[in-house]
Amino acid sequence: MKIHIAEHPLISHKLTVLRDQRTKSPTFRQLTEEIVTLLAYEATREIKTVPATVMTPVALFEGLELAQPRPVVVPILRAGLGMLEGMTRLIPTAEVGFLGMVRDHVTLQASTYANRLPENLEGRQCYILDPMLATGGTLIAAIEYLFERGATDITAITILSAPEGIAAVEEAFAGKDQNITLVTGAVDAKLNENGYIVPGLGDAGDRLYGVV
Ligand code: URA
Repeated sequence: MKIHIAEHPLISHKLTVLRDQRTKSPTFRQLTEEIVTLLAYEATREIKTVPATVMTPVALFEGLELAQPRPVVVPILRAGLGMLEGMTRLIPTAEVGFLGMVRDHVTLQASTYANRLPENLEGRQCYILDPMLATGGTLIAAIEYLFERGATDITAITILSAPEGIAAVEEAFAGKDQNITLVTGAVDAKLNENGYIVPGLGDAGDRLYGVV
């Protein structure tokens, strides 16, 4: 797995405000979108393009345009939804699929409760959005799900990651041919006994949308 950890003062600044327990949901949502847009810039560095020629007011120009089929953005419900706007701001032509996954608070196992995705993902570049890579269970299950539908090129974008989660994803897909990349805002110290990232930012879904 290729790993890119953002090292940019703007992302560090926004992450610090995001982590602050005093930051309220509206600001938390706004910052999440902004951070995702910055991460998406890095995550799409290898997005497929094809040559495109346009006529400027002065001369012909040999440029590039995004290739077909369109990339697919897959937010993991619920918290990944808070990242969608920030991603589609950068690639508005992307198709959006949804994957509903829930983590059992006791076993920390992830299971799928809803999906709305293209049946066939062959040849599609897929971008999974999930703010917190904690144990890795949810991300591993989501990647496996996309692989089953033919995806071979998957980039996961997370706001924060735990070393344990990164190691679990690496182990789960070691030796596989598929192309997996992780783009994350920061790698924190560890997980606590409840599977929360430390120092982290708490429960991302609750902080985005309030506790339900
Ligand atoms: N999910 C969260 O929302 N926060 C964590 O710290 C870990 C998983």
